[in-house]
Amino acid sequence: MDFPTFHLDFFGNRMLIAAIAVLHVFINHALAVGAIPVIVGMEWWGHRKGDAAWDALAYKTLFVCFIITTTVGAMTGVGIWFSASLVNPYAIASLIRVFFWAWFTEWFVFVSEVCFILAYFLLWKRWSGQRKVTHIRLGAALCVFSWLTMAIIVAILGFMMDPGNWESQRTFWNGVLNPLYAPQLLFRTPLAMVSAGLFVWFLVIFFTQRGSEVRAGAIRFVSAWVLAWTPLLMFGAIWYRWRIPESMLGNLPVAMGTQRYETWYDGLLLAIAAAIVLVLAVAGLGLLRPGWMPRVGLVLPFCLVLVMLGEFERVREFIRKPYVINEYMYANGVRTDDLALFQRDGLLAHCAYASTRTITPENRISAGRDVFLLACTRCHTTTGVNGIVAKFENLYGRDKAWDRDAMVAFIENMHGARPFMPPFPGNRQELEAMTDYILQVRKTGESLEGAQVTGVEFPAGDGAVTKGGATSSAR
Ligand code: HEC
Repeated sequence: MDFPTFHLDFFGNRMLIAAIAVLHVFINHALAVGAIPVIVGMEWWGHRKGDAAWDALAYKTLFVCFIITTTVGAMTGVGIWFSASLVNPYAIASLIRVFFWAWFTEWFVFVSEVCFILAYFLLWKRWSGQRKVTHIRLGAALCVFSWLTMAIIVAILGFMMDPGNWESQRTFWNGVLNPLYAPQLLFRTPLAMVSAGLFVWFLVIFFTQRGSEVRAGAIRFVSAWVLAWTPLLMFGAIWYRWRIPESMLGNLPVAMGTQRYETWYDGLLLAIAAAIVLVLAVAGLGLLRPGWMPRVGLVLPFCLVLVMLGEFERVREFIRKPYVINEYMYANGVRTDDLALFQRDGLLAHCAYASTRTITPENRISAGRDVFLLACTRCHTTTGVNGIVAKFENLYGRDKAWDRDAMVAFIENMHGARPFMPPFPGNRQELEAMTDYILQVRKTGESLEGAQVTGVEFPAGDGAVTKGGATSSAR
């Protein structure tokens, strides 16, 4: 364990990544990957019919997408990698080893995408008339590049859920072509197209006049677009679901609704089915009777897709617990191969940034705090979201504060009791010190806000670990 620990003790680290990632996924899928083909389609249609109203609608839609994707979209895209490397440098370091050239290619493709969207937007007015067809082709190139950025990243996301035969072969292409790559890409592509349709529906309210011909035409066009992509979306969803490793499916109820609401699982499935039917009904109405479409019909599907994308990302993140990279690394950065070693020698002994490596009666609370930071804080806080104190006050849903012995017994077997949590990655002494630390927080309520395991310099030649070059790196 050779990185310092970054920790947000109120909202939790998971929330930091989630907030940035969900916003980014929405912008990327709906506004970049999905909306550009819709815009190019509208531009082409306007050009074919010689109708300036279509061209104006396409341009205004692009204006919104251009402003949002090049600001919030780009910042959250980079933000995902910044926040993920802050929260779990171990996972990102491992992923960089496998996907080194993919990241480089991603940078190249992303920069090209930005250049294309700049050119497409800024040349819109200048390349009208004679050069319109060239401008439409520029839009088509932008479509390809914005899809490619997603196609590369999905390889990494799929790998984290199931590295497949990379575990035995360890080549770049084994990593990229992991079992979940194709199904996830085939799911996300139509998902992007459908969400873009719902987003453009929403914009149509602002950019066209009620009762105008272009509004009816645009609603009809986007409705046909949504309906056309839906079968592929369903197919992608089923294939993706079918390829998810069996061992992860047990996590689904908690993934969808947290432990407290896991019994709502069937209800949530029903709600999702109802949302899909509603979107299809709106699309059907839009296709057949665009003039009848009430405003709420255009806003509601847009709100639904926001919620569903968020829920989908939560489930994808949660379902692979206790791992961050399936069967290779636990969510707290401990590699499965190192677990036995850490349990034998102690976690602190193999940690470059800890305040101590040997637990004494004087330092046991601060040592316990370090162990807690390392072993639990990727998912828990002290007293904030998913707070550890509350977890031990409400174990198994029973409202009572558990005593020290019961806590120790639970932690010893935490992976057995709750398979979505990794096994405790330290020795018995560390486990007890950590329990004492949690009991102290229960008593004093002191939080860890802003805390980090910054550590002490270890004396030269002190055992197996040196700062910055611990046992588990370079593998
Ligand atoms: C992979 C993420 C993860 C890690 C790491 C993790 N936990 Fe958890 N833990 C969870 C989740 C998720 C829940 C359930 C939250 C919910 O839905 O209510 C939970 C629940 C618990 C509960 C309550 C269990 C119950 O049945 O009510 C306890 C106690 C707990 N964790 C202790 C720990 C301790 C101690 C550590 C560190 C040694 C730890 N956890 C590490 C994710 C994790």
